Amino acid sequence: MYIGIDLGTSSVKLLLMENDGKILKKAVREYGLSFPHTGWSEQDPADWIKGTVDGVKELMEGQPKDAVKGIGIGGQMHGLVMLDKDDNVIRPAILWNDGRTIAETDYLNNEIGRDKLLEYTGNIAFAGFTAPKILWVKKNEPDNFAKATKFMLPKDYLVYKLSGAFTTDMSDASGTLYFDVEKGGWSDPMLGILGITADKLPEVHKGFEIVGEVKESVKSELGLSGSVKVCAGAGDNAAAAVGMGIAGAGKCNISVGTSGTIFLTSDSYRVDPSCALHSFRHADGQFHFLGCMLSAASCNKWWMDEIFKTKDYAGEQKEISKLGENSVFFLPYLMGERSPHNDAAVRGSFTGLSLDTTRADIYQAVLEGVAFGIRDMLEAGRKAGYAPEESCICGGGAKSPLWRQIIANVTGLKLITVENDEGPSYGGAILAAVGCGEFATVAQASEAVTKTGDITVPEKELIEKYNDRYAHYTAIYPAVKDLYR
Ligand code: XUL
Repeated sequence: MYIGIDLGTSSVKLLLMENDGKILKKAVREYGLSFPHTGWSEQDPADWIKGTVDGVKELMEGQPKDAVKGIGIGGQMHGLVMLDKDDNVIRPAILWNDGRTIAETDYLNNEIGRDKLLEYTGNIAFAGFTAPKILWVKKNEPDNFAKATKFMLPKDYLVYKLSGAFTTDMSDASGTLYFDVEKGGWSDPMLGILGITADKLPEVHKGFEIVGEVKESVKSELGLSGSVKVCAGAGDNAAAAVGMGIAGAGKCNISVGTSGTIFLTSDSYRVDPSCALHSFRHADGQFHFLGCMLSAASCNKWWMDEIFKTKDYAGEQKEISKLGENSVFFLPYLMGERSPHNDAAVRGSFTGLSLDTTRADIYQAVLEGVAFGIRDMLEAGRKAGYAPEESCICGGGAKSPLWRQIIANVTGLKLITVENDEGPSYGGAILAAVGCGEFATVAQASEAVTKTGDITVPEKELIEKYNDRYAHYTAIYPAVKDLYR
Protein backbone atom coordinates (compact mmCIF):
# COMPACT_ATOMS: atom_id res chain seq x y z
CA MET A 1 0.00 0.00 0.00
CA TYR A 2 0.94 3.64 -0.43
CA ILE A 3 0.23 6.76 1.59
CA GLY A 4 -0.60 9.93 -0.33
CA ILE A 5 -0.50 13.29 1.44
CA ASP A 6 -1.89 16.65 0.31
CA LEU A 7 -0.26 19.38 2.39
CA GLY A 8 -2.95 21.98 1.72
CA THR A 9 -3.60 25.51 2.95
CA SER A 10 -6.57 24.77 5.19
CA SER A 11 -5.77 21.15 6.06
CA VAL A 12 -3.57 18.16 5.41
CA LYS A 13 -5.49 15.38 3.63
CA LEU A 14 -4.14 11.85 3.66
CA LEU A 15 -5.14 8.57 2.08
CA LEU A 16 -4.10 4.94 2.01
CA MET A 17 -4.06 3.44 -1.50
CA GLU A 18 -3.66 -0.18 -2.60
CA ASN A 19 -1.16 -0.86 -5.37
CA ASP A 20 -3.98 -1.02 -7.97
CA GLY A 21 -5.21 2.48 -7.08
CA LYS A 22 -8.09 1.52 -4.77
CA ILE A 23 -8.49 3.97 -1.87
CA LEU A 24 -8.83 2.15 1.46
CA LYS A 25 -9.03 4.97 3.96
CA LYS A 26 -8.82 8.76 4.25
CA ALA A 27 -7.98 11.20 7.04
CA VAL A 28 -8.00 14.99 7.35
CA ARG A 29 -6.46 17.35 9.91
CA GLU A 30 -7.33 21.04 9.69
CA TYR A 31 -5.06 23.88 10.78
CA GLY A 32 -5.19 27.65 10.88
CA LEU A 33 -3.85 30.34 8.61
CA SER A 34 -2.66 33.62 10.06
CA PHE A 35 -2.96 37.03 8.41
CA PRO A 36 -0.63 39.23 10.55
CA HIS A 37 -1.31 42.20 8.22
CA THR A 38 -3.79 42.70 5.38
CA GLY A 39 -2.55 40.68 2.43
CA TRP A 40 -0.01 38.66 4.47
CA SER A 41 -0.52 34.92 4.87
CA GLU A 42 1.54 32.65 7.13
CA GLN A 43 1.47 29.21 8.71
CA ASP A 44 3.46 27.41 11.39
CA PRO A 45 5.20 24.38 9.83
CA ALA A 46 4.84 22.61 13.20
CA ASP A 47 1.08 22.44 12.49
CA TRP A 48 1.76 20.61 9.22
CA ILE A 49 3.90 18.03 11.04
CA LYS A 50 1.39 17.51 13.84
CA GLY A 51 -1.50 17.14 11.37
CA THR A 52 0.48 14.68 9.25
CA VAL A 53 1.58 12.55 12.21
CA ASP A 54 -1.99 12.37 13.59
CA GLY A 55 -3.39 11.66 10.13
CA VAL A 56 -0.94 8.84 9.35
CA LYS A 57 -1.65 7.27 12.75
CA GLU A 58 -5.37 7.33 11.96
CA LEU A 59 -4.77 5.74 8.54
CA MET A 60 -2.68 2.98 10.11
CA GLU A 61 -5.21 1.99 12.81
CA GLY A 62 -6.07 -1.67 12.20
CA GLN A 63 -3.51 -2.05 9.36
CA PRO A 64 -0.44 -4.32 9.46
CA LYS A 65 2.53 -2.09 10.36
CA ASP A 66 4.60 -3.28 7.42
CA ALA A 67 1.86 -2.81 4.79
CA VAL A 68 3.07 0.58 3.55
CA LYS A 69 5.81 0.53 0.90
CA GLY A 70 5.94 4.22 0.01
CA ILE A 71 4.79 7.76 0.74
CA GLY A 72 4.26 10.61 -1.74
CA ILE A 73 3.38 14.21 -0.95
CA GLY A 74 1.72 16.94 -3.00
CA GLY A 75 1.98 20.33 -1.35
CA GLN A 76 0.90 23.96 -1.49
CA MET A 77 3.46 25.64 -3.72
CA HIS A 78 5.77 28.69 -3.46
CA GLY A 79 5.81 28.90 0.39
CA LEU A 80 9.12 29.88 2.01
CA VAL A 81 10.34 27.69 4.89
CA MET A 82 13.74 28.63 6.33
CA LEU A 83 15.80 26.45 8.68
CA ASP A 84 18.84 27.43 10.77
CA LYS A 85 22.02 25.36 11.15
CA ASP A 86 20.33 23.20 13.81
CA ASP A 87 17.30 22.61 11.57
CA ASN A 88 15.01 24.87 13.61
CA VAL A 89 12.29 26.69 11.65
CA ILE A 90 13.40 30.35 11.73
CA ARG A 91 10.07 32.13 11.18
CA PRO A 92 6.50 31.17 10.15
CA ALA A 93 6.26 30.01 6.55
CA ILE A 94 5.26 32.78 4.11
CA LEU A 95 2.60 31.25 1.87
CA TRP A 96 1.68 31.24 -1.83
CA ASN A 97 -1.19 33.72 -1.32
CA ASP A 98 0.88 36.26 0.64
CA GLY A 99 1.03 39.65 -1.08
CA ARG A 100 3.64 41.52 1.00
CA THR A 101 6.27 41.49 -1.74
CA ILE A 102 4.86 44.15 -4.10
CA ALA A 103 8.12 46.16 -3.94
CA GLU A 104 10.35 43.09 -4.45
CA THR A 105 8.17 41.83 -7.33
CA ASP A 106 8.33 45.26 -8.99
CA TYR A 107 12.12 45.32 -8.49
CA LEU A 108 12.51 41.91 -10.14
CA ASN A 109 10.15 42.64 -13.06
CA ASN A 110 11.23 46.23 -13.71
CA GLU A 111 14.84 46.62 -12.56
CA ILE A 112 16.22 43.14 -13.22
CA GLY A 113 13.69 43.06 -16.05
CA ARG A 114 11.08 40.64 -17.32
CA ASP A 115 13.23 39.60 -20.30
CA LYS A 116 16.10 38.50 -18.07
CA LEU A 117 13.75 36.67 -15.69
CA LEU A 118 12.17 34.86 -18.64
CA GLU A 119 15.60 33.94 -19.97
CA TYR A 120 16.81 32.64 -16.57
CA THR A 121 13.64 30.89 -15.38
CA GLY A 122 10.87 30.84 -18.04
CA ASN A 123 8.71 33.07 -15.82
CA ILE A 124 8.29 36.63 -14.61
CA ALA A 125 7.92 37.53 -10.92
CA PHE A 126 4.57 37.24 -9.12
CA ALA A 127 4.14 38.33 -5.51
CA GLY A 128 3.43 34.78 -4.30
CA PHE A 129 6.58 33.23 -5.80
CA THR A 130 9.43 32.28 -3.48
CA ALA A 131 12.20 34.54 -4.86
CA PRO A 132 10.52 37.87 -3.94
CA LYS A 133 9.89 36.43 -0.46
CA ILE A 134 13.60 35.74 -0.01
CA LEU A 135 14.34 39.35 -1.03
CA TRP A 136 11.68 40.57 1.44
CA VAL A 137 13.23 38.60 4.33
CA LYS A 138 16.72 39.77 3.35
CA LYS A 139 15.60 43.41 3.52
CA ASN A 140 13.14 43.34 6.42
CA GLU A 141 14.51 40.55 8.64
CA PRO A 142 18.28 40.55 7.97
CA ASP A 143 19.01 38.46 11.10
CA ASN A 144 16.66 35.73 9.92
CA PHE A 145 18.18 35.84 6.45
CA ALA A 146 21.71 35.52 7.89
CA LYS A 147 20.69 32.53 10.04
CA ALA A 148 19.16 30.55 7.17
CA THR A 149 21.08 27.48 6.03
CA LYS A 150 18.18 25.86 4.15
CA PHE A 151 15.51 27.50 1.96
CA MET A 152 12.77 25.02 1.23
CA LEU A 153 9.18 24.59 0.03
CA PRO A 154 6.37 23.35 2.31
CA LYS A 155 6.11 19.71 1.17
CA ASP A 156 9.92 19.45 1.06
CA TYR A 157 9.99 20.28 4.77
CA LEU A 158 7.66 17.34 5.36
CA VAL A 159 9.86 15.06 3.23
CA TYR A 160 12.88 16.27 5.24
CA LYS A 161 11.21 15.58 8.60
CA LEU A 162 10.10 12.11 7.47
CA SER A 163 13.27 10.95 5.76
CA GLY A 164 16.12 13.41 6.32
CA ALA A 165 16.35 13.92 2.53
CA PHE A 166 16.90 17.59 1.59
CA THR A 167 15.22 17.44 -1.82
CA THR A 168 12.55 18.99 -3.99
CA ASP A 169 10.92 18.11 -7.30
CA MET A 170 10.83 19.95 -10.60
CA SER A 171 7.14 20.92 -10.50
CA ASP A 172 7.43 22.64 -7.12
CA ALA A 173 10.89 24.08 -7.87
CA SER A 174 9.35 25.74 -10.96
CA GLY A 175 7.36 28.08 -8.72
CA THR A 176 10.38 29.52 -6.91
CA LEU A 177 11.61 31.82 -9.71
CA TYR A 178 15.14 30.62 -9.05
CA PHE A 179 14.72 27.40 -11.06
CA ASP A 180 15.52 27.26 -14.77
CA VAL A 181 12.41 25.46 -16.07
CA GLU A 182 13.87 24.78 -19.51
CA LYS A 183 17.16 23.31 -18.24
CA GLY A 184 15.67 21.61 -15.16
CA GLY A 185 18.11 22.93 -12.50
CA TRP A 186 18.66 25.91 -10.19
CA SER A 187 19.41 29.17 -12.01
CA ASP A 188 22.85 30.56 -11.13
CA PRO A 189 22.04 34.14 -12.24
CA MET A 190 18.91 34.12 -10.06
CA LEU A 191 20.85 32.82 -7.04
CA GLY A 192 23.25 35.71 -7.61
CA ILE A 193 20.38 38.22 -7.69
CA LEU A 194 18.96 36.82 -4.43
CA GLY A 195 22.34 36.53 -2.72
CA ILE A 196 22.02 32.84 -1.83
CA THR A 197 24.18 29.85 -2.69
CA ALA A 198 23.15 26.48 -4.12
CA ASP A 199 24.28 24.59 -0.99
CA LYS A 200 21.29 26.14 0.81
CA LEU A 201 18.87 24.66 -1.73
CA PRO A 202 17.50 21.12 -1.98
CA GLU A 203 18.60 18.58 -4.57
CA VAL A 204 16.15 18.53 -7.52
CA HIS A 205 14.40 15.32 -8.63
CA LYS A 206 11.47 14.21 -10.74
CA GLY A 207 8.38 13.76 -8.57
CA PHE A 208 8.25 9.96 -8.64
CA GLU A 209 11.94 9.45 -7.84
CA ILE A 210 12.65 7.85 -4.48
CA VAL A 211 14.70 10.22 -2.35
CA GLY A 212 14.94 8.30 0.92
CA GLU A 213 13.20 6.12 3.49
CA VAL A 214 11.18 7.07 6.55
CA LYS A 215 13.61 7.33 9.51
CA GLU A 216 13.47 4.60 12.19
CA SER A 217 12.51 7.07 14.93
CA VAL A 218 9.64 8.48 12.81
CA LYS A 219 8.38 5.03 11.78
CA SER A 220 7.71 3.95 15.34
CA GLU A 221 5.84 7.20 16.01
CA LEU A 222 3.68 6.71 12.90
CA GLY A 223 2.90 3.03 13.43
CA LEU A 224 4.97 1.89 10.42
CA SER A 225 7.69 -0.75 10.09
CA GLY A 226 9.95 -2.21 7.39
CA SER A 227 11.24 -0.20 4.46
CA VAL A 228 8.96 2.78 3.69
CA LYS A 229 10.26 4.76 0.72
CA VAL A 230 9.58 8.47 0.22
CA CYS A 231 9.42 9.96 -3.28
CA ALA A 232 10.22 13.60 -4.11
CA GLY A 233 6.49 14.41 -4.50
CA ALA A 234 5.09 17.38 -6.41
CA GLY A 235 3.52 20.81 -6.16
CA ASP A 236 -0.17 20.34 -5.36
CA ASN A 237 -1.39 21.26 -8.85
CA ALA A 238 0.95 18.77 -10.55
CA ALA A 239 0.07 16.12 -7.96
CA ALA A 240 -3.66 16.82 -8.48
CA ALA A 241 -3.18 16.50 -12.23
CA VAL A 242 -1.56 13.07 -11.76
CA GLY A 243 -4.48 12.06 -9.53
CA MET A 244 -6.94 13.21 -12.22
CA GLY A 245 -5.33 11.33 -15.13
CA ILE A 246 -3.70 14.48 -16.51
CA ALA A 247 -0.24 13.46 -17.76
CA GLY A 248 1.02 13.48 -21.35
CA ALA A 249 0.48 16.38 -23.74
CA GLY A 250 -2.69 18.32 -24.66
CA LYS A 251 -4.74 17.84 -21.48
CA CYS A 252 -6.48 20.29 -19.18
CA ASN A 253 -7.40 20.23 -15.48
CA ILE A 254 -9.22 22.91 -13.50
CA SER A 255 -8.94 22.93 -9.73
CA VAL A 256 -11.45 24.88 -7.64
CA GLY A 257 -9.73 24.75 -4.26
CA THR A 258 -8.61 27.57 -1.95
CA SER A 259 -6.89 28.77 -5.12
CA GLY A 260 -8.38 28.26 -8.58
CA THR A 261 -6.02 26.86 -11.18
CA ILE A 262 -5.91 25.79 -14.79
CA PHE A 263 -3.29 23.20 -15.75
CA LEU A 264 -2.52 22.75 -19.47
CA THR A 265 -0.03 20.01 -20.33
CA SER A 266 2.63 19.99 -23.03
CA ASP A 267 5.54 17.74 -24.00
CA SER A 268 7.81 20.66 -24.79
CA TYR A 269 9.03 23.80 -23.06
CA ARG A 270 7.03 26.94 -23.91
CA VAL A 271 6.61 30.41 -22.46
CA ASP A 272 3.24 32.22 -22.38
CA PRO A 273 3.84 35.39 -24.47
CA SER A 274 1.38 37.32 -22.24
CA CYS A 275 3.09 35.97 -19.08
CA ALA A 276 -0.37 35.50 -17.52
CA LEU A 277 0.29 31.76 -17.16
CA HIS A 278 3.33 30.16 -15.56
CA SER A 279 5.63 27.87 -17.51
CA PHE A 280 6.34 24.94 -15.15
CA ARG A 281 7.55 21.34 -15.17
CA HIS A 282 5.12 18.48 -14.49
CA ALA A 283 5.67 15.80 -11.85
CA ASP A 284 7.27 13.47 -14.42
CA GLY A 285 9.63 16.15 -15.71
CA GLN A 286 7.37 17.12 -18.69
CA PHE A 287 5.88 20.62 -19.04
CA HIS A 288 2.69 22.55 -18.42
CA PHE A 289 1.19 26.02 -18.24
CA LEU A 290 -0.36 26.91 -14.91
CA GLY A 291 -2.78 29.75 -14.29
CA CYS A 292 -3.56 30.52 -10.67
CA MET A 293 -6.24 32.73 -9.18
CA LEU A 294 -5.59 33.33 -5.50
CA SER A 295 -9.16 33.03 -4.21
CA ALA A 296 -11.59 30.50 -5.66
CA ALA A 297 -13.42 28.14 -3.26
CA SER A 298 -12.14 30.50 -0.55
CA CYS A 299 -14.53 33.19 -1.94
CA ASN A 300 -17.42 30.79 -1.38
CA LYS A 301 -16.18 29.85 2.10
CA TRP A 302 -15.62 33.52 3.03
CA TRP A 303 -19.12 34.46 1.81
CA MET A 304 -20.79 31.62 3.73
CA ASP A 305 -18.70 31.93 6.94
CA GLU A 306 -18.41 35.70 7.26
CA ILE A 307 -21.49 37.09 5.53
CA PHE A 308 -24.28 34.48 5.42
CA LYS A 309 -22.92 32.84 8.61
CA THR A 310 -24.17 29.39 7.65
CA LYS A 311 -22.72 26.05 6.58
CA ASP A 312 -25.79 25.24 4.46
CA TYR A 313 -24.09 25.57 1.07
CA ALA A 314 -26.67 23.37 -0.70
CA GLY A 315 -29.61 25.27 0.82
CA GLU A 316 -28.25 28.66 -0.29
CA GLN A 317 -27.44 27.32 -3.77
CA LYS A 318 -31.00 25.96 -4.15
CA GLU A 319 -32.26 29.57 -4.20
CA ILE A 320 -30.20 30.33 -7.34
CA SER A 321 -32.50 29.82 -10.32
CA LYS A 322 -31.68 32.45 -12.97
CA LEU A 323 -28.36 31.40 -14.52
CA GLY A 324 -27.19 33.91 -17.12
CA GLU A 325 -29.57 36.65 -15.88
CA ASN A 326 -27.70 38.28 -13.01
CA SER A 327 -26.94 42.02 -13.09
CA VAL A 328 -24.53 41.78 -10.12
CA PHE A 329 -20.80 41.19 -10.74
CA PHE A 330 -18.20 40.10 -8.21
CA LEU A 331 -14.44 40.48 -8.65
CA PRO A 332 -12.92 37.58 -6.67
CA TYR A 333 -9.68 39.36 -5.76
CA LEU A 334 -9.89 38.90 -1.97
CA MET A 335 -6.09 38.39 -1.68
CA GLY A 336 -5.12 40.38 -4.78
CA GLU A 337 -4.81 38.44 -8.05
CA ARG A 338 -2.07 36.37 -9.71
CA SER A 339 -3.29 35.20 -13.17
CA PRO A 340 -3.87 37.08 -15.34
CA HIS A 341 -3.40 40.49 -13.67
CA ASN A 342 -0.30 39.98 -11.47
CA ASP A 343 -1.69 42.59 -9.07
CA ALA A 344 -1.18 41.98 -5.35
CA ALA A 345 -2.80 45.31 -4.40
CA VAL A 346 -6.24 44.92 -6.01
CA ARG A 347 -9.15 43.73 -3.83
CA GLY A 348 -12.56 42.17 -4.43
CA SER A 349 -15.68 44.19 -5.22
CA PHE A 350 -19.37 43.97 -6.14
CA THR A 351 -20.89 46.11 -8.90
CA GLY A 352 -24.39 46.30 -10.35
CA LEU A 353 -26.36 46.23 -7.08
CA SER A 354 -29.88 47.69 -7.07
CA LEU A 355 -32.90 47.72 -4.76
CA ASP A 356 -34.31 44.59 -6.36
CA THR A 357 -31.04 42.63 -5.92
CA THR A 358 -31.72 39.50 -3.86
CA ARG A 359 -29.63 37.43 -1.50
CA ALA A 360 -29.50 34.70 -4.17
CA ASP A 361 -28.31 37.19 -6.85
CA ILE A 362 -25.32 38.22 -4.75
CA TYR A 363 -24.40 34.63 -3.92
CA GLN A 364 -24.75 33.73 -7.61
CA ALA A 365 -22.41 36.65 -8.43
CA VAL A 366 -19.78 35.21 -6.05
CA LEU A 367 -19.89 31.81 -7.80
CA GLU A 368 -19.94 33.46 -11.24
CA GLY A 369 -17.06 35.81 -10.38
CA VAL A 370 -14.82 32.80 -9.70
CA ALA A 371 -15.99 31.18 -12.97
CA PHE A 372 -15.14 34.39 -14.88
CA GLY A 373 -11.69 34.36 -13.23
CA ILE A 374 -11.21 30.79 -14.52
CA ARG A 375 -12.29 31.96 -17.99
CA ASP A 376 -9.68 34.74 -17.83
CA MET A 377 -6.98 32.07 -17.38
CA LEU A 378 -8.48 29.87 -20.10
CA GLU A 379 -8.48 32.82 -22.52
CA ALA A 380 -4.76 33.34 -21.81
CA GLY A 381 -4.24 29.63 -22.59
CA ARG A 382 -6.28 29.98 -25.80
CA LYS A 383 -4.18 32.98 -26.90
CA ALA A 384 -1.04 30.92 -26.25
CA GLY A 385 -2.29 28.21 -28.62
CA TYR A 386 -4.18 25.76 -26.40
CA ALA A 387 -7.66 24.87 -27.60
CA PRO A 388 -9.18 22.49 -25.04
CA GLU A 389 -12.82 21.51 -25.56
CA GLU A 390 -13.02 19.65 -22.30
CA SER A 391 -11.30 19.65 -18.95
CA CYS A 392 -11.17 17.57 -15.80
CA ILE A 393 -12.30 19.43 -12.72
CA CYS A 394 -11.39 18.84 -9.07
CA GLY A 395 -11.18 20.58 -5.68
CA GLY A 396 -13.80 21.30 -3.02
CA GLY A 397 -15.69 23.79 -5.24
CA ALA A 398 -16.10 21.20 -7.99
CA LYS A 399 -18.28 19.08 -5.69
CA SER A 400 -21.18 21.53 -6.25
CA PRO A 401 -23.17 20.55 -9.40
CA LEU A 402 -24.47 24.14 -9.67
CA TRP A 403 -20.97 25.66 -9.58
CA ARG A 404 -19.72 23.09 -12.11
CA GLN A 405 -22.63 24.05 -14.40
CA ILE A 406 -21.82 27.75 -14.06
CA ILE A 407 -18.13 27.09 -14.84
CA ALA A 408 -19.10 24.93 -17.86
CA ASN A 409 -21.43 27.68 -19.17
CA VAL A 410 -18.89 30.45 -18.61
CA THR A 411 -15.94 28.58 -20.16
CA GLY A 412 -17.81 26.58 -22.81
CA LEU A 413 -15.85 23.50 -21.69
CA LYS A 414 -17.26 20.03 -21.07
CA LEU A 415 -16.21 19.32 -17.47
CA ILE A 416 -15.30 15.86 -16.27
CA THR A 417 -14.92 14.68 -12.69
CA VAL A 418 -13.20 11.43 -11.77
CA GLU A 419 -14.42 8.84 -9.28
CA ASN A 420 -11.50 9.29 -6.88
CA ASP A 421 -11.38 13.08 -6.95
CA GLU A 422 -8.92 13.42 -4.08
CA GLY A 423 -6.48 15.28 -6.34
CA PRO A 424 -3.08 15.96 -4.75
CA SER A 425 -3.16 13.18 -2.12
CA TYR A 426 -4.13 10.58 -4.73
CA GLY A 427 -1.45 11.94 -7.07
CA GLY A 428 1.10 11.73 -4.24
CA ALA A 429 0.27 8.05 -3.65
CA ILE A 430 0.46 7.33 -7.40
CA LEU A 431 3.91 8.98 -7.63
CA ALA A 432 5.13 6.82 -4.72
CA ALA A 433 3.74 3.70 -6.45
CA VAL A 434 5.59 4.62 -9.67
CA GLY A 435 8.80 5.23 -7.70
CA CYS A 436 8.47 1.81 -6.05
CA GLY A 437 8.10 0.12 -9.46
CA GLU A 438 4.33 -0.65 -9.53
CA PHE A 439 3.97 1.21 -12.86
CA ALA A 440 6.43 2.02 -15.66
CA THR A 441 5.60 5.74 -16.01
CA VAL A 442 3.55 8.43 -14.29
CA ALA A 443 1.31 8.79 -17.37
CA GLN A 444 0.65 5.06 -17.45
CA ALA A 445 -0.13 4.91 -13.72
CA SER A 446 -2.35 7.95 -13.80
CA GLU A 447 -4.33 6.65 -16.76
CA ALA A 448 -4.63 3.16 -15.29
CA VAL A 449 -6.12 4.17 -11.95
CA THR A 450 -8.43 7.10 -12.82
CA LYS A 451 -12.06 6.45 -13.79
CA THR A 452 -14.44 9.04 -15.25
CA GLY A 453 -17.20 10.30 -12.93
CA ASP A 454 -19.85 13.00 -13.66
CA ILE A 455 -19.83 14.96 -16.90
CA THR A 456 -21.18 18.54 -17.05
CA VAL A 457 -22.00 19.86 -20.52
CA PRO A 458 -22.29 23.63 -21.18
CA GLU A 459 -25.91 24.71 -21.81
CA LYS A 460 -26.08 26.06 -25.39
CA GLU A 461 -28.69 28.75 -24.68
CA LEU A 462 -26.64 30.11 -21.78
CA ILE A 463 -23.21 30.21 -23.44
CA GLU A 464 -24.06 33.41 -25.39
CA LYS A 465 -25.55 35.07 -22.31
CA TYR A 466 -22.41 34.28 -20.36
CA ASN A 467 -20.22 35.53 -23.23
CA ASP A 468 -21.98 38.90 -22.91
CA ARG A 469 -21.63 38.87 -19.15
CA TYR A 470 -17.95 37.92 -19.44
CA ALA A 471 -17.35 40.91 -21.75
CA HIS A 472 -18.87 43.13 -19.04
CA TYR A 473 -16.80 41.40 -16.33
CA THR A 474 -13.52 42.00 -18.16
CA ALA A 475 -14.30 45.75 -18.31
CA ILE A 476 -14.54 46.07 -14.51
CA TYR A 477 -10.91 45.36 -13.48
CA PRO A 478 -9.36 48.08 -15.73
CA ALA A 479 -11.94 50.52 -14.32
CA VAL A 480 -11.16 49.85 -10.65
CA LYS A 481 -7.52 48.75 -10.48
CA ASP A 482 -6.08 52.23 -9.85
CA LEU A 483 -8.23 52.61 -6.73
CA TYR A 484 -5.90 50.22 -4.93
CA ARG A 485 -2.51 51.60 -5.91
C1 XUL B 1 -0.15 27.63 -7.66
C2 XUL B 1 -0.53 28.17 -6.33
C3 XUL B 1 -1.61 27.51 -5.57
C4 XUL B 1 -1.06 26.78 -4.38
C5 XUL B 1 -2.23 26.31 -3.55
O1 XUL B 1 0.75 28.42 -8.33
O2 XUL B 1 0.01 29.12 -5.84
O3 XUL B 1 -2.39 26.67 -6.36
O4 XUL B 1 -0.23 25.76 -4.79
O5 XUL B 1 -1.94 25.33 -2.69
